[in-house]
Formats: sequence, structure tokens, C-alpha cells
Amino acid sequence: MASTTAVPEVALRSGSARPMPAVGMGTASFPPAPGATKDAVLAAIEVGYRHFDTAAMYRTERPLGDAVAEAARCGLLRSREELFVTSKLWCTQCHPDLVLPSLRETLKNLQMEYLDLYLIHWPVALKPGPLTFPKRKEDAVPFDFEGVWRAMEECQRLGLARAIGVSNFTTRHLDRVLAAATIPPAVNQVELNPAWQQRTLRAYCADRGVHVAAYSPLGGQNWDGTGSNAVLESEVLAGIAKARGKSVAQVALRWIYEQGVTSIVKSYNKERLRQNLDIFGWELTDEDRLKISQIPQKKTVTAWGLFSQEGEFTSVDPADLDIVEP
Ligand SMILES: NC(=O)c1ccc[n+]([C@@H]2O[C@H](COP(=O)([O-])OP(=O)(O)OC[C@H]3O[C@@H](n4cnc5c(N)ncnc54)[C@H](OP(=O)(O)O)[C@@H]3O)[C@@H](O)[C@H]2O)c1
Repeated sequence: MASTTAVPEVALRSGSARPMPAVGMGTASFPPAPGATKDAVLAAIEVGYRHFDTAAMYRTERPLGDAVAEAARCGLLRSREELFVTSKLWCTQCHPDLVLPSLRETLKNLQMEYLDLYLIHWPVALKPGPLTFPKRKEDAVPFDFEGVWRAMEECQRLGLARAIGVSNFTTRHLDRVLAAATIPPAVNQVELNPAWQQRTLRAYCADRGVHVAAYSPLGGQNWDGTGSNAVLESEVLAGIAKARGKSVAQVALRWIYEQGVTSIVKSYNKERLRQNLDIFGWELTDEDRLKISQIPQKKTVTAWGLFSQEGEFTSVDPADLDIVEP
């Protein structure tokens, strides 16, 4: 059995999922590279990751499942029960009658009996169809928040998802789900890092017992196409990293952890995977935290990137697609 780093865990309020490890490995990587994903997940399990994030859209469910099966076969894992696995319902599947079949497909890809957490990927519904993007703006349809959430609740009741939640939801979208919910969302996974701190959303979620998970904790993979990265290129973070003898990535991940937020961080490199888990047992100082609180804020991932740039939205209120916190 490989020795594993002790990673703190957070109990989710609703559902029967095992507690969520405070750092998870992200698997979004485009174009999809199944072999690289499988190898990276095996490396991650070896260095101590027990929390994995995938999505129907990433096409990494199958290689993640293959890696977990192999890890169990070769003794790196005792059983799948040791893991916390999240996947997500894509926008074309955000229709009440498509939720359960989509989860079943996800479980088949993963070769698993259940997910620890199933998330609505975006507060955006697209006409049913292939899992591709960008889509035409005309493909957006009104989101049936109540109907889709009821179907998510059914997934939890059936034991196919031990907890359910959302992703990219603003307080406005959460208001609508919470008003309809008998099982409130356990998690909201959003872009969050020192350059997009999400103070309003974090306070809202803390008040309502919704745990926040951070995607793109290191600034993401050039999702806006600008070629710059507000986290890894931050001079403020570089100064703190130098003073603490840590990397910029470790400072960003440590700051997220200190906010009570779970990081979902992607690396397919074993050394960086190890580094990203090594953020416990030391602290930032009050001065570091003050400097980080003053970093200029900029959102990188927007819902508009899901759509081709031509044409107008014809069937939905564009405000519904606005995922920047008001
Ligand atoms: N819910 C959503 O809508 C949504 C959206 C985006 C992402 N996500 C999830 O969140 C995960 C993470 O977010 P992300 O992929 O956008 O980006 P990220 O984790 O912020 O950054 C990943 C980039 O940083 C590099 N990196 C990783 N560790 C590093 C280190 N220690 N030092 C320097 N560079 C490092 C990685 O390259 P190497 O692989 O070469 O190390 C990768 O290119 C995704 O994989 C996905 O699972 C969810």
C-alpha cells in the first residue's frame, strides 16, 4: 500500500457521501487524452489523492474509472470506498427526464456503482444533443430549475449519488434551487482563487450550509484565451511564496484552504501533483492574507464561452447565463 499524505476532510451537510478531502484532482484537459488521464490519476493515487473531479463533458470518466480499477487490482487502493468521486451533468442533459439516464451513463463510464457527488455543471440548459461546445446561442433553452433539481434529488434517493450539488451557480441561481429543494445542494463548485475570491458567494453559501469547492484554483488552463494567468503570474503571490519557501501554487492552494474551501486542482505531472497536496502543516501570516485580499479581481471563465459568438440568444434571458456574481 502506498503511503499517503494526511489530507483534512470536510463533512458535507446533506447526503451520505464520505467526507470530502480538502484537495481534489481535476481532470479537465482538452483535447481529451485518455492515456495521459489514466496515468496521471494512477500517479495521483500513488502520491495520496483520494478525491477526483470529472464530468461527462470532459470525457475523462472512462480513463478515471480505468485508473481506479487498475489501482484496486494492483493494491494501490483497498477499494473504491476510499475515494470521493464527483461528476457533472452537462447542459444538454439539464432536462428533468435526462438526469437519471445521464447519471447511469456516467456510472457506466466510471465502472462504479455510485458517485460521491453529482453536480449540475452550469445553470444553463441547452437543447438535448451531443456533448459538444461551443453551441449556437439559439441552442440555449429556459432552465427548469425545479424539475431538474427534483430529478437530482431522485438520484440521491436511489443511492446513485451520495450527495448532490451545483456548479457555476450565483446566489441568484442558488435562490431558485433552494426555494424548490427538499434536499438542499451540498456543494457549489465555482471558479475561485486569489484573483477571483468570490466573497459574496462564499458568505451566502456559508449562511446556507452549502460547501464551496474551487475550480481553476491556479488560474485555470488559459480558458479565456489571453495566454496570461492572474494566479501563477501574480507578483504578490510570488513575493509571499519566496518569503515562505513555497511555490506560488502552494500559496494559492493554502489560501483557498484557509478560507474553508476545497480546491479542485489539475496537474498531470507527478511532481506538481505531490506539491499541490503539500499545503498542510504551515500557515500564511496575517500580512500575507492582507496582501492577498488586495489582489485585483478578474473572472476568467464565463458562460458566454460555451456558445459560439454569432447570433443573439433567442429563447432565454441572457441574464440567466450571467455567472458573474452581481
Ligand atoms: N465546474 C466547472 O465548470 C469547471 C471549470 C473548469 C475546471 N473545473 C475542474 O477544476 C479542475 C481544475 O481547474 P483547471 O483545470 O481550470 O485549472 P487549475 O487547476 O487552476 O490549473 C491547472 C494548470 O496549472 C498547471 N499546474 C498545476 N499544478 C501546478 C504547479 N504546482 N505549478 C505550476 N503549474 C501547475 C497545470 O499544468 P500541468 O498539468 O502541466 O501541471 C494546468 O495547466 C479541472 O481540471 C476540472 O476538474 C471545473
